[in-house]
Amino acid sequence: MSKIIIGTSNPGKIREIASILSPLGYEIEPHALDVYETGKTIKDNAIIKAKAYSNVFPDTYVIAEDSGLVVPKLNNLPGPYSARFHEITIDDNLNVINVPHEEFTTDKSEHDKLNNEKLLKYIKDIPFNERAAYFEVCFAIAKNGIIQETFSGYSYGYISDELRGTNGFGYDPLFIGENTFGKTYAELDSARKNLKSHRKQALKQLGLWVSQNIEN
Ligand code: IMP
Repeated sequence: MSKIIIGTSNPGKIREIASILSPLGYEIEPHALDVYETGKTIKDNAIIKAKAYSNVFPDTYVIAEDSGLVVPKLNNLPGPYSARFHEITIDDNLNVINVPHEEFTTDKSEHDKLNNEKLLKYIKDIPFNERAAYFEVCFAIAKNGIIQETFSGYSYGYISDELRGTNGFGYDPLFIGENTFGKTYAELDSARKNLKSHRKQALKQLGLWVSQNIEN
């Protein structure tokens, strides 16, 4: 059975990738390295992580991913800084001027809350019809330090005026999907959110590529 290294310690992400690749006959081995994410885009960060893992685990395929919320009107923020948006310093032209290096110390839901508060602050003077946004995920697959392929998925929508709903995670309470009848993702049940999710689209492409290119 071929082994594929997954570069994350996040149990949800491990489960998600395993649910696609295990039934195809691949053995999934998660590893967590401390990779400093210096990319300016979500795709850059997925590539940086996949190369870093691949250099540590040569001769084995490795998969890394990055995801986030992109708001074009906010200079594509939070983008690659989505997980720690509240901690970064942004100048008046919406350029990021400082990103702290420290590891997370508090729990993730506290970060989500502070991130959403910061996004609301930045969005409040922008008219609703200019609040287009999208979730993006990128999976990168590497071997011997070389990127073999990347797979991106997107979910399009708008940023709401206020936090609504209690389901989901991250920016879900502020994200109104383009086909969700005005509801935020946090007001949808997970089955409905996942139906067309960015993650599902990208995982489908990843599974197809792996099954066509890696012997199981
Ligand atoms: P990372 O991929 O672990 O670096 O974290 C990405 C961050 O993007 C998360 O902490 C969330 O804040 C945000 N994010 C990514 N995908 C979603 C989603 O589907 N819903 C809500 N927030 C998301």
